[in-house]
Amino acid sequence: MGKMQHCSQWYLLLLAIFLLALTVQANENGVKTAVFLSPEFVLGPGKVENKFYYNIDYPRGHIAIKEFYGEVVDELGNSVALHETYLHHWVVERYYAPKGVEVPEGNDDGLHLSKNIIVRNSGVCQGNVLGQYFGVGSETRKTKTYVPDPYGIEVGNPMEIPNGFEERWLLNIHAIDTRGVVDRLGCTECRCDLYNITRDQFGRPLRPGYTGGLFCCYDQVQCSLKEGFESVKRSLYLRYTVKWVDWEDTIVPGKVYLLDVTDTGKRAHDSARLGALHGCQVEYEVESCGANGLANNGCVDTKKASIVMPHGGSVIYAVAHQHSGGVGSTLYGEDGRVICSSLPIYGEGKEPGNEAGYIVGMSSCYPQPGTVRIFEGETLILESNYNSTQKHTGVMGLFYILVADSPPKPMLSLRTSVHQELKMLSKYSWALVFIGVAVAVIIGVGYLRRNEREGGYQSI
Ligand SMILES: *[C@@H]1O[C@H](CO)[C@@H](O)[C@H](O)[C@H]1NC(C)=O
Ligand SMILES: *[C@@H]1O[C@H](CO)[C@@H](O)[C@H](O)[C@H]1NC(C)=O
Repeated sequence: MGKMQHCSQWYLLLLAIFLLALTVQANENGVKTAVFLSPEFVLGPGKVENKFYYNIDYPRGHIAIKEFYGEVVDELGNSVALHETYLHHWVVERYYAPKGVEVPEGNDDGLHLSKNIIVRNSGVCQGNVLGQYFGVGSETRKTKTYVPDPYGIEVGNPMEIPNGFEERWLLNIHAIDTRGVVDRLGCTECRCDLYNITRDQFGRPLRPGYTGGLFCCYDQVQCSLKEGFESVKRSLYLRYTVKWVDWEDTIVPGKVYLLDVTDTGKRAHDSARLGALHGCQVEYEVESCGANGLANNGCVDTKKASIVMPHGGSVIYAVAHQHSGGVGSTLYGEDGRVICSSLPIYGEGKEPGNEAGYIVGMSSCYPQPGTVRIFEGETLILESNYNSTQKHTGVMGLFYILVADSPPKPMLSLRTSVHQELKMLSKYSWALVFIGVAVAVIIGVGYLRRNEREGGYQSI
């Protein structure tokens, strides 16, 4: 009789664990996912799109972003290959706008027209450039961007939004239709001669020696086509997927830093534009190594910048951004330790996500939280390497890092620790269910055997 009671208690406990595991499983699906389409943009062969959409669809409220993924699709929702529409970049920026005041789509001046308040990332570039929260380029399809638990990028905190304002998100898409062009790489590298451009979009002459980059690649310019090439215009969209969780105190906020290898370290004044002499230049040129290259350094161009970090913390996630020709980028600490090394993944075929000759992904770093730390005031060294067998224009060397102020403390409060244990439980819930069932079977079989030996169920 006593044995029977003991045994049924075991069963109850196992049942409880089983049910607990199931309910927490459902809880952890607190991650919400939404898929949005950008406004339509239309491109003909050789054309460039570089528009800013000032109020895109986005999840609202006080939330923590867990992932942001985007890719170019056509009207039927099919992924479009990079050798047809090259995705130079897409960038998502955050700002507070006076309620009810809309900014029509257009160029990058829109943010500065009214009383908009730009909410830049925590990175050290200033002025108008590289203030985004999210954004990559051709590598978008194979670059991991997930922010691991318990971290998230906090947005929409009502305590931080000024009275009379609302939080909005702007999307900039820079895409180049390279169907039928004379030189695919040249068009994607925005070579000024291929676009027949001698003045920037504001009519100002290009600076001497500038041979390619964003100043020759603005909205609606045309890259040279093969003679007689004709094709239809296409309607395209950026399809973007946002994953988030509702804000809770147990989420540890991560700060976004965007570091630029062209950062001169000198701070430009607030109205600095792309191409200012100081601060972040965003893009640079890689000269061809020439005949002596192979003898010297194997034709690899290395560019470095020293960047002082205003705050410290624990690195949660890091990834570099490079263009075709990139062979990897590494972020070092002051003492030479490697914070993250990010390598390009080149495509090998034709299908979207695997286009030969293009960077279709960048490897990212997910250090064990707390193991890779940056100190307040530390000078980081950012190194960007390109293959210099041939010249490249308009290349980039950015590094995106997500830094949390403090690693999660083991005992913030009872509620926190229970919550985290439940999360752990949920992570291993299937293993637990399996173990639970296995234990139940073993105990059950043992019990039956013993009962058989002791004369079955007669004791009841
Ligand atoms: C290039 O631009 C100049 C004027 O800016 C124009 O005269 C010339 O025809 C253009 N060339 C081509 C090939 O479009
Ligand atoms: C650079 O590119 C050339 C030509 O495409 C190639 O032969 C060489 O292996 C590349 N070097 C590196 C370091 O990737």
